[in-house]
Amino acid sequence: MFFASDNTSGVPSEIMAALARANEGYARSYGNDDIMARVTARLRTIFDAPEAVVHLAATGTAANALALASLTPPWGAIFCHRHAHIAEDECGAPEFFSNGAKLTLIDGPHGKITPAALTEALATTGASGVHGVQRGALSLTNVTEAGTTYTPAEIAALTAIAKSHNLPCHLDGARFANALVATGASPAEMTWKSGIDALSFGGTKNGLLGVEAVILFDPAKSWELELRRKRGGHLFSKHRFLSAQMEAYLTDDLWLRLATHANRMGQRLSSGIAAMNSAALTHPTQANMVFANWEQGGHARLRSGGAIYYDLRPKDGRETARMVASWNTTDDHVDRFLSLLKG
Ligand SMILES: Cc1ncc(COP(=O)(O)O)c(C=O)c1O
Repeated sequence: MFFASDNTSGVPSEIMAALARANEGYARSYGNDDIMARVTARLRTIFDAPEAVVHLAATGTAANALALASLTPPWGAIFCHRHAHIAEDECGAPEFFSNGAKLTLIDGPHGKITPAALTEALATTGASGVHGVQRGALSLTNVTEAGTTYTPAEIAALTAIAKSHNLPCHLDGARFANALVATGASPAEMTWKSGIDALSFGGTKNGLLGVEAVILFDPAKSWELELRRKRGGHLFSKHRFLSAQMEAYLTDDLWLRLATHANRMGQRLSSGIAAMNSAALTHPTQANMVFANWEQGGHARLRSGGAIYYDLRPKDGRETARMVASWNTTDDHVDRFLSLLKG
């Protein structure tokens, strides 16, 4: 019963088979492999974006930091949610890669930035001339860190505000597939049609061994991003093994099938918790992440039964937790968790 994160799961057989195939013979290095050309073509089709450029990285932190550094000058403010992964879990990588851009944190319920809060943050940043940081970029996350999702309309409302100040917009899509499946939006609707300029397109959380794609819908920043990736030590020489994973991920809608399953498991867990008198959800479950609290004693029962998940800071005398379902969570894992919690 591993619910600590979706990255505690292994790798689907389709990905391992693609790696074995890529291992045959020789291939050009540093992203010049034939598979990478096919990955770019495939993503352009999926996103209905013939001009888009694609660069792979092995971690979500690298994808976010490289994308943001390419969008923001060192004196820029990157507007993001207070609990954004880039703010809480990347050890300052966006600041480091951008040579010092400042994260400007915005509060909002259930992990989401509201238009009013963004408008307020923009009004109070960059207004003191040379003395203060300038407005740099907007970064949103979908699925959010609270397990909720933004619809394309919500994204478009936020990017329109950012763009009224000429800011580029980034989307951290570590769980992009889960967000798409949850909202029913198309990849284009969720991104460039809603004002997103750069996407960190996640793969690792949804079954890859370790690949994320930075997709730039405006190719103008492509060369800069390539230079930053090399200089930052994130250009893989045996790149074909990254490309091969991403190609298999995109073949026969594997990425969407894996996310559909993970979201279904998240919903199963969420409905089971919501049905208990002793437990309650703390954020709406819209994809594969479940946030809940429950009466004292739940952690002890779950832990002694072998459940692995994150316990969060207790609140109002109740134990709180985050559980994440993955592409290979089973009904049985969920049901055992629920019966342990129920006691
Ligand atoms: C929202 C979000 N963004 C990005 C990442 C990427 O992190 P990593 O560098 O561990 O691949 C994660 C992983 O936890 C995440 O949850």
